[in-house]
Amino acid sequence: MAKKKQSYVDLKDQPVPEGSHLLEVDNLKMYFHTQDGVVHAVDGVSYTLDRGETLGVVGESGSGKSVTAKTLMGLIEMPPGKIEGGDARYRGKSLLKMTEEEMQHVRGNDIAMIFQDPMTSLNPVYKIGRQVGEGLRLHRGYSKKEALARAVELLDLVGIPEPEKRVNEYPHQFSGGMRQRVMIAMALACDPDILIADEPTTALDVTIQAQIIELMQEMQKKNGNAIIMITHDLGVVADMADKIMVMYAGRPVEFGTAEEIFYDSRHPYTWGLINSIPKQETDEKKPLTPIAGNPPSLVNLPSGCPFAPRCPYAVGICHEKLPEHITTESGHYSACHFADDPKFLAYAPETSRTRANLAARKAAGAQHAAKEA
Ligand SMILES: Nc1ncnc2c1ncn2[C@@H]1O[C@H](COP(=O)(O)OP(=O)(O)O)[C@@H](O)[C@H]1O
Ligand code: SF4
Ligand SMILES: [Mg+2]
Repeated sequence: MAKKKQSYVDLKDQPVPEGSHLLEVDNLKMYFHTQDGVVHAVDGVSYTLDRGETLGVVGESGSGKSVTAKTLMGLIEMPPGKIEGGDARYRGKSLLKMTEEEMQHVRGNDIAMIFQDPMTSLNPVYKIGRQVGEGLRLHRGYSKKEALARAVELLDLVGIPEPEKRVNEYPHQFSGGMRQRVMIAMALACDPDILIADEPTTALDVTIQAQIIELMQEMQKKNGNAIIMITHDLGVVADMADKIMVMYAGRPVEFGTAEEIFYDSRHPYTWGLINSIPKQETDEKKPLTPIAGNPPSLVNLPSGCPFAPRCPYAVGICHEKLPEHITTESGHYSACHFADDPKFLAYAPETSRTRANLAARKAAGAQHAAKEA
């Protein structure tokens, strides 16, 4: 078991204050002040997350998913970045008010992140063993030898063959899938409370994608940690997420449980994402239905609903007034003017197919369905 430095009390060992959640992101706003104007990269993100839960963060490229995660980790350069409002509390403590020294203890130890591109996040000149063991030396006071021994165990745990040999190799000697596993081993080294995975499978083939996701879920089952899974593909989080936040143009446009997002979605952008998921069991050759058009520039956002230029259902008010969140009793929210209009919701995609899948998954004891019960 990991030894700890005596001088620092891990936040993850502190109780979550009564009435709070493990992580509470509350109307978070992070803008970049650039020569071209103010980039509204994160504009009012709110969600809560508890231990053992998985949050899927979904949206097209440029919607603010990575910047949201990096803001929590204190990894945004300020300036040009600036927090414009809101808060993010981990175990009741504001991550935004921590000193850089406090954040260094949080990063990798309490909250760990697997970055989008493993090649740019691994240092090409250091051996893999040293990089995997670095967090243990920094946060847990391991000796070089102890950290290397644990690195071997961790590589073995994430399914890298011959770990004793491979700790002495360099990143370029690993394939894309194996590098992604190394990143996971690094992120898991200090048993983080929250694991943030930023599109960890995008560059990998489907079989390896499935293995990586399975691995993160196995670790979660064992350690009880929370996961934030960032992806542009709603299908990736279909079977793993408890909650899903759909982002568009820096804003969360819909948030709810996975069931609510898939079977009771109340936002046309989410409908577009649902329609883009290949329906394997009906017709594998059918092309995806991409959402026509492009996301708006985050510098000059249109007035009104940011999705209006691409929304097939937009009417006058959509171009004039920014929709507020319409929230149900369970906390499911949608930023569409018509989210509580049953006639409008009849335009939602045909979900009977997915409802049948839900029933089948529940019967098979699938993880997130079982948790709901
Ligand atoms: N350092 C920066 N300076 C200015 N704009 C940035 C910076 N980093 C990210 N952005 C902008 O913030 C927006 C959100 O980016 P990001 O969170 O990376 O999107 P994604 O959803 O693809 O992860 C994008 O428009 C991006 O261009
Ligand atoms: S507010 Fe209007 S434009 Fe925006 S998603 Fe709803 S219907 Fe579409
Ligand atoms: Mg990103």
